[in-house]
Amino acid sequence: MTSILARYRQQLRNALGDWFPRTTLFLKGEPPIKGDTKPGSRKKAEPAQAPKRQAEPKAASKGAKREQSTGQPTLVAPAAPSPTALYGSAFTVKRSQEQRMKMRVEQAVTQGIIQPPSPEQWKMILARAPATRIFAGAGSGKTTTLVLRVVFMLCHLEIPREQLTVISFTKASCEELRAQLKRVLAFWEVPLNEEAARELVRTFHSALAQLARSELRATQWFEQLSTQSKGEDEPDNGMLAGATLNEGQRQLLIQAYENCYREDAGFRRRVHLLLELAAPNEEEPPGAPPLQPFVLNGERQPQPLPDLFYGQASFAETLGLRVGSIKSNQLECSTRDRIFLEAMQQFWRHFGKLLKEQRLITFNTAFAVLTDRLDKKPSRALIARLQPFTHLLIDEFQDISPQIALWLQQVQRRLAEEKVAPSLMAIGDDWQSIYGWRGSSPELFIHFDRWFPGQTPSQTLMLGTNYRSSPDIVADGERILTQVRHKQPKKTKAFRVADAQGHGVRVVPQFDIARQLASLLGEIEAQRTYAAERERPERCAVMVMSRLNAPLKAINEQLGRQPGVRTCTIHRAKGLQAEVAIVLDDGQPQQPHPLRNALYAASGHFQQSYDAAMADEALRLSYVAVTRGVSRVLWYTRQPRGAAAILAG
Ligand SMILES: Nc1ncnc2c1ncn2[C@@H]1O[C@H](COP(=O)(O)OP(=O)(O)OP(=O)(O)O)[C@@H](O)[C@H]1O
Ligand SMILES: [Mg+2]
Repeated sequence: MTSILARYRQQLRNALGDWFPRTTLFLKGEPPIKGDTKPGSRKKAEPAQAPKRQAEPKAASKGAKREQSTGQPTLVAPAAPSPTALYGSAFTVKRSQEQRMKMRVEQAVTQGIIQPPSPEQWKMILARAPATRIFAGAGSGKTTTLVLRVVFMLCHLEIPREQLTVISFTKASCEELRAQLKRVLAFWEVPLNEEAARELVRTFHSALAQLARSELRATQWFEQLSTQSKGEDEPDNGMLAGATLNEGQRQLLIQAYENCYREDAGFRRRVHLLLELAAPNEEEPPGAPPLQPFVLNGERQPQPLPDLFYGQASFAETLGLRVGSIKSNQLECSTRDRIFLEAMQQFWRHFGKLLKEQRLITFNTAFAVLTDRLDKKPSRALIARLQPFTHLLIDEFQDISPQIALWLQQVQRRLAEEKVAPSLMAIGDDWQSIYGWRGSSPELFIHFDRWFPGQTPSQTLMLGTNYRSSPDIVADGERILTQVRHKQPKKTKAFRVADAQGHGVRVVPQFDIARQLASLLGEIEAQRTYAAERERPERCAVMVMSRLNAPLKAINEQLGRQPGVRTCTIHRAKGLQAEVAIVLDDGQPQQPHPLRNALYAASGHFQQSYDAAMADEALRLSYVAVTRGVSRVLWYTRQPRGAAAILAG
């Protein structure tokens, strides 16, 4: 009954949001969605005031009535850092510059270099506001249009390349963007060599590494401990780091655990309590620490404590918390979780010490140290190194974490103080936010102006056409989204027309990969033939996606390398497309995670609880998977649950 009522309320809320978006945003305290806000007249940029230092995490942020794990979204805004205006004046754009851009685009279209941009996409290309948010669903041409925006900035607004950075999510998507930019810029007769392209397009972690290299003394990333090749490798997004630790990393964690156990009686006591062992005998010197697996509520598998400490502490840091400063006695959690947290804090001190001794650093620490340094009194040398971040264009912005947002704020605040008038174009789709389990959140994109305020509200642009998928697939994708509680309403129409050979999501129930692998392989082959016979074949014919690696491994072992077939996790499939998308639904029911709920609340950044965010995220992950398909989607599942149940019903 409650869930029917909740669903009804949500539907009502969505409908109101659709029909009265401005009023809805006003009630939520958000700036209005302005499809075509005219940026204000150009004023001299006021230097931003120094924001208050991020307050210590609060156990319960004032006024922020948060959602319970099963609860409803609240109307009260959560606490968020609110530095004073970072953005001032709009770009000065002459009519002649716009006209030249339009003329060159027309020529490029005639020569088949690019597709003609839609009027909405033109607004993004020619945007003038210093802070712009592009809010658009899957396949609406965000990344494609980003390329033309960069061309406009470099070739027509004549912004020096050294002042511009494009940030994309993964090394693979950066490479794709670089290739596009090289191709299109060549037509504009502005050749981009490999090195310049690498400097222009980066992952967040490679942008961080660029600053850290000169600013911090550490020489190696903990995350790349066993894989780094002499530091030349471009760091991939830290969010993508494997869930499993490699041998080098685990050894270091165990060493920190041993040090902590040997030196700290309080830690020994807590470890024994957690593992339900007899109290340690303090009459004798401590022996080897116990390493049996521990069950932390909310985690899928029992794990040794050092692994768990690392995972949960890293999560807390991504939320922008300093592990040592968390007030455990103020967290809303069980005694068991509190003991775990306190042991984790003790462990984290020893782990940090060990890293320092070995001149290693984690990405999280580098973000935090640089944020602090920029906040306090940065050297002139550090400020000079910020130049490439003057004009930032960030794709997949929905997957940003509070920690990265805090760093970005400081970077652009310092630039504003230098009176160089920074700009930020945030491009994303909150419906595709899928890294909440690693600490990112679509709430930062939804509440963009609280994190990245300007003297006037940011400009928000929507792209409402899906160029990728058939109307059936677009409709099915949106059906999944109806049950996502916290989202920005937006409407999409399909550019493609219905196609007799294609279909929306076809759910195949009672599928068990262990028994039916052979028939799945047969289906992949049949779909590959179908894709090859299409009038304009896609580069990727069939994309097989799963949440987990294990089923993909089983398929790869049997299938080998097949041209046109790609197998990848849904997380890796982001931004990609294929004629046929095959989804293997191996999701497990979600479990409540009390410790993460408490950390979420302590960060003071979110309206949703962690559990509610994860329930939404499971549906968004399905939306990402489905929207990879161009003309067909097949969904294999043992028993339709979650998104599959919505689609099958
Ligand atoms: N104006 C257009 N006309 C025709 N096709 C277009 C247009 N804009 C984009 N496309 C095509 O639409 C597809 C999706 O584009 P793109 O990958 O840029 O979308 P996206 O919004 O970034 O998607 P995602 O949310 O999955 O990252 C591509 O095949 C692209 O070539
Ligand atoms: Mg994209």
